[in-house]
Amino acid sequence: MDLPNLKEARKRTDKKVEVLTDSYRLTEELKKLGLNRNYYIRTYGCQMNEHDTEKIKAILEDMNFQEVENMENADLILLNTCAIRENVHNKVFGLLGHIKSLKEKKPHLIVGLCGCMAQEKVVVDEILNKYQWLDIVFGTHNIHNLPNILATSLAKKELEIEVLSVEGDIYENIPVKRESKYKAWINAMYGCDKFCTYCIVPYTRGKQRSRRPEFIISEVKQLVEEGYQEVTLLGQNVNAYGKDLDINYRMENLLEDVAKTGIPRVRFLTSHPWDFTDKMIEVIKKYKNIMPYIHLPVQSGSNKILKLMGRRYTKEEYIDLFNKIKEAIPNVAITTDIIVGFPGETDIDFRETLDIVNTCKFDSAFTFIFSKREGTAAAKMTDNVPIEVKNKRLQELNKLVNKYAEEANQKYLNQVVPVLLEGVNEKDNTMLYGYTETMKRVNVKADKSYLGKIVDVKITKAGTWLLEGELCA
Ligand code: SAH
Ligand code: SF4
Ligand code: F3S
Repeated sequence: MDLPNLKEARKRTDKKVEVLTDSYRLTEELKKLGLNRNYYIRTYGCQMNEHDTEKIKAILEDMNFQEVENMENADLILLNTCAIRENVHNKVFGLLGHIKSLKEKKPHLIVGLCGCMAQEKVVVDEILNKYQWLDIVFGTHNIHNLPNILATSLAKKELEIEVLSVEGDIYENIPVKRESKYKAWINAMYGCDKFCTYCIVPYTRGKQRSRRPEFIISEVKQLVEEGYQEVTLLGQNVNAYGKDLDINYRMENLLEDVAKTGIPRVRFLTSHPWDFTDKMIEVIKKYKNIMPYIHLPVQSGSNKILKLMGRRYTKEEYIDLFNKIKEAIPNVAITTDIIVGFPGETDIDFRETLDIVNTCKFDSAFTFIFSKREGTAAAKMTDNVPIEVKNKRLQELNKLVNKYAEEANQKYLNQVVPVLLEGVNEKDNTMLYGYTETMKRVNVKADKSYLGKIVDVKITKAGTWLLEGELCA
């Protein structure tokens, strides 16, 4: 049993990152473990976590488990969780209440919790106190060992917890079952060393460690061969890619080499303003298959709050970078993340956040109320902003953000833009949906033979949330 440890999770040393190519191994015995058993997995959180779920699914299917869409039909239920804000915590523990009643009816049901919440000491303590009926808990550094964790729990018939709080290594041989046949997530780097004062990710995901380029490029080449249309390079601040490698190879080199594989669309997430270099901008501009879409979280428009957040840029520096990107890359869409109600945020600070939204007119923004995360530096700051004020600020911010989102969408009206059609519309199955190069969702009347194709679409309707269009002949 390995329990999470905050002090260890915070540690950063110059210990060399190991690249492990044979850590995931299955014995014949483990391959039989899932026979006649169904699994159900629910995922919370970011793209990184969604991609981890794709790995977990592949591991379970290697063990002969079969996926079901309904948790009531499962013999194994896994919750792959997110720790970024308190709300997922509440949802997950609420759902565990329901799952407990399923387990009472079906005692052989195996229940597990993994992902970033598993890395939190407070969560594991709560499980040890009140949810001993769970079968497995495993952390973000333990995915490759899932088969053994399951086997141990089944053999001992008791809760097995394996959560390593370490800086982390890189596991290169974990299989993946991709959700889409057209677009794929690819890890470029793991972890984060930025330690923004509000954020738990550096504790749940370990230190910043970049995959070696040759592994990434060969993964992309394989996807090109399989007919994939799009890859998204993932990292908590992906443009810091390469800084920790012992070779002189950075994000601009990776973007260029990935673009050269000929994959029709290259995306990357998430950009921290601090690591966005001029060289990256040049490469994005040069390659038509690097998409003109950048998610560039600003978090706040007040220099005082940015400093308290440990973001390491000022509002002025952000705006300069923003303008540089807008000028260099024609039609680029830029979206952002904003937190309101950070400890010490006054009305004047909040007005400055509204100001930066008015200056940048973002294509869209994810907006959040500050959520106190145990163990982070901001958790120790005095939070003197009443919750009613935070709620009011969020509403006011959202109104402004939506106004600019609608304006940005209106510009598409009557334009012809390429769209990668990737799925059938959930509400109307005569329609497909897909995304523009700038990451705007479009509904298009088209039959299923167009799935997986990049087609020219004329935009006929533009609202705040959605575009609608017709196929061009
Ligand atoms: N690595 C990315 C962000 C990942 S988390 C970056 O640095 O840009 C996604 C977003 O969640 C963040 O941009 C931030 O806006 C929000 N967030 C993170 N921690 C939070 C907290 N404690 N409370 C509220 N929002 C938070
Ligand atoms: Fe969190 Fe900051 Fe790292 Fe983003 S860059 S994951 S907000 S610590
Ligand atoms: Fe959440 Fe972990 Fe991602 S905290 S946002 S799932 S890295």
